Amino acid sequence: MANLPDTMRALVQLQDGYSGKSEGPAISDAALYLEEARLPVPTPAKGQVLIKLRVASVNPSDLHFIKGEYGQPRQKGVPAGFEGCGDVVSTGDGAEALLGKRVAFAVTLGGSGAWAEYALTDAIACIPLRADISDIDGSAQIVNPLTAMAMVDIAAKEGDAFVISAATSQLGKLMISLAKDMNLKVIALVRRSNAVAPLKALGATEVLVTTDPDFADQFAIVSRALKPRVFLDAVSDQICETVFTLMPNKARWISYGKLGTEAPRLTQMGQLIFMGKRIEGFWLTNWMRSTPPADQARVVGEVQARFADGRWHTDIAKTLTLSEVMKGLADATKIPDGKVIITP
Ligand SMILES: NC(=O)c1ccc[n+]([C@@H]2O[C@H](COP(=O)([O-])OP(=O)(O)OC[C@H]3O[C@@H](n4cnc5c(N)ncnc54)[C@H](OP(=O)(O)O)[C@@H]3O)[C@@H](O)[C@H]2O)c1
Repeated sequence: MANLPDTMRALVQLQDGYSGKSEGPAISDAALYLEEARLPVPTPAKGQVLIKLRVASVNPSDLHFIKGEYGQPRQKGVPAGFEGCGDVVSTGDGAEALLGKRVAFAVTLGGSGAWAEYALTDAIACIPLRADISDIDGSAQIVNPLTAMAMVDIAAKEGDAFVISAATSQLGKLMISLAKDMNLKVIALVRRSNAVAPLKALGATEVLVTTDPDFADQFAIVSRALKPRVFLDAVSDQICETVFTLMPNKARWISYGKLGTEAPRLTQMGQLIFMGKRIEGFWLTNWMRSTPPADQARVVGEVQARFADGRWHTDIAKTLTLSEVMKGLADATKIPDGKVIITP
């Protein structure tokens, strides 16, 4: 290792394993799940790289994870943070080609998280960045953009219209603009009326407010007119179940997030039997495991092109330094319409 310090500042997890709860990503105090620590700078093993952090992003998956309700167990004492952008400063055997490169990265199992001065991950979870992509866009280049591309691709195979919930999310906005470019119609569901105009301007065909008293009637009319056969759902609560029951035959309810705090109750089991409807899940981790490398490379290229030419960009709600996160994270995550990002 050249000129690397022995230790680094990091935000480490306080608990191991799963909480057994499903409360959603909201946090009241980062100190319930994290503490600031000084750790030895990790050494990359075979196939791994050490990355000096430029910018890390805070995704709902990070918050689910530190709360113990994500698809992999917490590890006490290990830095949190799944995604970021930085410079590869050291590599294990087989990963030398990335040395010195500025990369977007996702932290894989066995790695060391992005909410630290240095992160450790597998070389295959790194994407060298074009020079015309900013560090901020680079820090949110994998989790949401690849999910947007993969899920809109699923929807496009089932017709020219689809439904999304939590449409004001970063991922929702990426999907709306992508769908517009593909001449697909998006029925966007939001929970606040001041989101309607901006999402229409972005390209959503219909924007419906789930808190309107006659929301179900409004959705039923739109569903009959546009016949959406896919519901890409990040909320997964009772309103979403109602939406699914109002969709046409062969509709697919694809849950990919659990922003809602309540669990939905299924009210129309006959629709699964007689209307060929299906309920399923989407997880980017599984998409990456099952999608051939050439197809993934094509998608990654398209993602970078969209950020480079401005068709996509990352909205920022708040920037925190590592030393500000313990105090500032909970409030920052309540700011609507943008990502919280962390800098060293
Ligand atoms: N399965 C996968 O592979 C995968 C990959 C990437 C992302 N995701 C999921 O995608 C979702 C969006 O991620 P993101 O980074 O784009 O989020 P984000 O930008 O942080 O936005 C969060 C959004 O959630 C909305 N929201 C929060 N709680 C809600 C509730 N109870 N009911 C309705 N809406 C609610 C917020 O609405 P307001 O604007 O009204 O506050 C906001 O639009 C998350 O659930 C995330 O876990 C899943």
